[in-house]
Amino acid sequence: MSVVPWIPSPKIVVEYLKHALGINREDVVVDLGCGDGRILLEFAKSGATTICIEIDRTLCNITEVTFNIHGLRDRVKIVCRDFFEVSLSNIEPRPTIVYAYLYSSILEALSKKFEEELSFCTIIVTLDFPIRNWSPIYVKHLIDENNHSRVVWIYVNGISNPKARLVEGRIVDVNKCVEICMEKCRRKLFMY
Ligand SMILES: C[S@@+](CC[C@H](N)C(=O)[O-])C[C@H]1O[C@@H](n2cnc3c(N)ncnc32)[C@H](O)[C@@H]1O
Repeated sequence: MSVVPWIPSPKIVVEYLKHALGINREDVVVDLGCGDGRILLEFAKSGATTICIEIDRTLCNITEVTFNIHGLRDRVKIVCRDFFEVSLSNIEPRPTIVYAYLYSSILEALSKKFEEELSFCTIIVTLDFPIRNWSPIYVKHLIDENNHSRVVWIYVNGISNPKARLVEGRIVDVNKCVEICMEKCRRKLFMY
């Protein structure tokens, strides 16, 4: 069942994420409800492997055509299904980043899947709507092309979730956890 209408993310968000997260060919990016695939297309241009999970058949077809036009069809896997019915544990190679522009109530329902099915240190990015009960490691305010204020919420699985504050079996300082995760995925902290 479609639980959120299609509203595309603004360009400024993808531009910010491309640079802030240093998206590259080692990334595997999943967009939960990918719409017309515009976010993933930009990540694919930076070399990432991308996975679009989208319930709307027309939007899946548009995504396919768009990637074809750009000669990047081999950089996207299109799963035309309800994201609640797709196991994130079966995605290979493992996702490094999950993007979700969805309502908080839906994100809350998905957060259990994130905890159970994503690897430790996977980055989860949401737009405008936070994941309730999770603590973001960074929040970025942006102004889009229509002069609207937008908020990018960045979480790390295993650190941002309330029940997980563990690194390799030891409870450690949250800042230390973030550092370890960022190091593991060879990322700078994106504080700009
Ligand atoms: C707000 S739009 C975001 C589109 C895209 N991620 C972007 O940022 O440009 C939400 C998308 O989620 C899709 N969607 C809604 N419910 C879904 C579900 N249960 N499973 C998969 N996709 C869904 C909608 O069709 C829509 O394209």
